[in-house]
Formats: sequence, structure tokens, C-alpha cells
Amino acid sequence: MNVLVVGGAGYIGSHCVRQLIAAGHNPVVLDNLVYGHRAAVPEDVPFYPTNLGNEKEVGKILRKEKIELVMHFAAYAYVGESVTDPLKYYFNNVAATLHLLRCMIGSGVKKFVFSSTCATYGVPEKMPLVETMPQAPINPYGQTKLDVENILKSLAHANGLSFAAFRYFNAAGAAEDGAIGEHHDPETHLIPLAIDAATGLRPPLQVFGNDYPTPDGTCLRDYVHVDDLSRAHIAVFDQLAKPGAALFYNLGTGTPTSVLEVIRAVEKVTGKTVPHTIAPRRAGDPPALYADSTKAKTELNWTPKFTTIEPIVATAWQWHQANPQGFRS
Ligand code: UFG
Repeated sequence: MNVLVVGGAGYIGSHCVRQLIAAGHNPVVLDNLVYGHRAAVPEDVPFYPTNLGNEKEVGKILRKEKIELVMHFAAYAYVGESVTDPLKYYFNNVAATLHLLRCMIGSGVKKFVFSSTCATYGVPEKMPLVETMPQAPINPYGQTKLDVENILKSLAHANGLSFAAFRYFNAAGAAEDGAIGEHHDPETHLIPLAIDAATGLRPPLQVFGNDYPTPDGTCLRDYVHVDDLSRAHIAVFDQLAKPGAALFYNLGTGTPTSVLEVIRAVEKVTGKTVPHTIAPRRAGDPPALYADSTKAKTELNWTPKFTTIEPIVATAWQWHQANPQGFRS
């Protein structure tokens, strides 16, 4: 299938491009490179550094490349920044997506895979999370993702758009062959910061809170390998053959892992100590978030290859060792 990967130079998008190629599909990348890295995309993949607001140009790309399905990863994803600068998030994550969807409908492209998040659930009352639980985001980032989910529902009904929205838990790790990995600027994610603390590239890691109602007092998260996420995006293709399909899936391993357990995994994999201090809680962090992904497993036959934290960290470590400055290395 000819697939336009919007945000294909970003962390999850670039891993998806490589999985698409491995599965015999033809990815085309659109990424304005505000956060993405050109080097994360293979040279021979058609690449357009276009803004989604340029509907004329995006429409031309859809037609020229005979695109059959669009995957959309291009969003800003810093929760804290979304609180202080919500307009930036609503314009980029919602308004730009509306432009993309209007182009698709105008060009007759009716299959869409959307990168959503467990942040749409807010602070859930029960764990693990199933797709039917209430969605009540506690920050603009999560709200923008929920807004797009709702827009997609309307378009499925009115225009016959078929879509899958994947609610990711904590995307982690790097390509198994070490070719690409996680490089955010600024970096806020636990695993890359813990690795850089271990190697001395960054200051000691701050553990945000050790007084949560969890077994060791630190937050529990569901770390899921980025290639496992990517494979789910391809496994859903058959389901999108039905016009108006509106599908929602949690993607996680279902294994809750604490911040201290991540630190221990990084120490084991790297053979180095992770210097760390206990810091105050970070605003907006729910104590625990982990998925029930039974729906993706049964409907898509999706089975994550990585189910525990150490092998995930090992792939991240392989990438960081070879690329200590990320794509700048
Ligand atoms: N953490 C630390 N110290 C750090 C960084 C993180 O203790 O320096 C902790 C956080 O408090 C949290 C855990 O490590 O408990 C994971 O934090 P990340 O920042 O790596 O990931 P989040 O769970 O905050 O964020 C992820 C995605 C977001 C998404 C969010 C949904 O990266 O895009 O899940 O809750 F919005």
C-alpha cells in the first residue's frame, strides 16, 4: 500500500516507516522538520518538508504519490508546554490535522491511522485501562488528541472515513538493528535521561516523587517498544477496508514498571550506576498508567515482542552508545 507518513521523521513515525518497508509497503514521508530529523528517514523514501497548512501542496502530494492511507504522527507532545502555551498545541495538533483531513477527503483518500495517547484518559479511577473507560484529559496535550479522535468519529459517519486511533502508553526503545532511535530536543523522557545520567552526558536524574501510592513510591508506567507500536499500525490495515470503520486501541504491554525499576534496568543493561536524586512530584503525573491491550491483541492479532523493560532499554542503549548526541552524532 502507498502510505503517507505525516511526522515520519519523528521518533515513532520514523520507526513506522522502517516497519512499513519491512512489510512490503511504500511509505512517503511528510515532515516539516520542526522536531523531526531528516537522517531518521531512509534516503530513498520520498520526502516532503511541507506544512499541513499548505493544503494545495499536500493535495498534490496525495495525488502524485497515489496515497491510499495516511498515518499521522505529527504532533507536539510536551505536556508541560501544552499547559503554558495551549494555542501552540491547538493550532498544531488540531487545526493542522483539520487541514490534512480536508485534503484527504478532497483527494478521495479515506483511510487514516492516528497517533493518540493514554493522556486522553486523564487520571483514571481503575487500572488497567480499557478503551471504553471515560476520557477526561487533564492537560491541553491530551485534550488535543481527544479532540482529533472526536473529529475522526464525525468524519467516519459523514464522509465514510475509516480510521484507527492508537492510544499509546510510554513509547520506548530504538530500532533493533541500531539504525535509528529516540532523539528529542529538549529531552524529557525517563529512559534517555537515565542513560545520559549513567554515561555522564547529563546531570544526575531527578526522580519526580517517591511518595506515590505505589509499591516503591515512584510512578508506574507501561513502557512499550516503539517497533511493537509500529507493527500495530500495519496490523490494522485489513480492518480499514470497511468504509466508516471507527477503531480505538490501547497499545501497551500491560506491565507496570516503576521509575526505580527503570533505573535498575538501565544500570543492569549499561553496567553503570545511574546517579539520581529524589525531587518533588512533577505536575500532572498520574501515579499509575498501564494498559489492557486485549482488544488490539484479539482484533489485530498484535503481540508485543518486548514484554519487559530490560530488553527495551537494551535497544535504547545500543542506539545511545553509537549515537551519544542522537542524530547530531
Ligand atoms: N520521570 C522522572 N524523571 C525524569 C523524567 C521522568 O522521574 O527526569 C518519571 C515521570 O515522573 C513519570 C515517568 O518517569 O513517572 C515517565 O515519564 P516520561 O516523561 O518518560 O513519560 P510520561 O509518562 O510523562 O509521558 C508519556 C508520553 C507523553 C504522554 C504521556 C501520557 O511521553 O507524550 O505519557 O501520560 F502524554
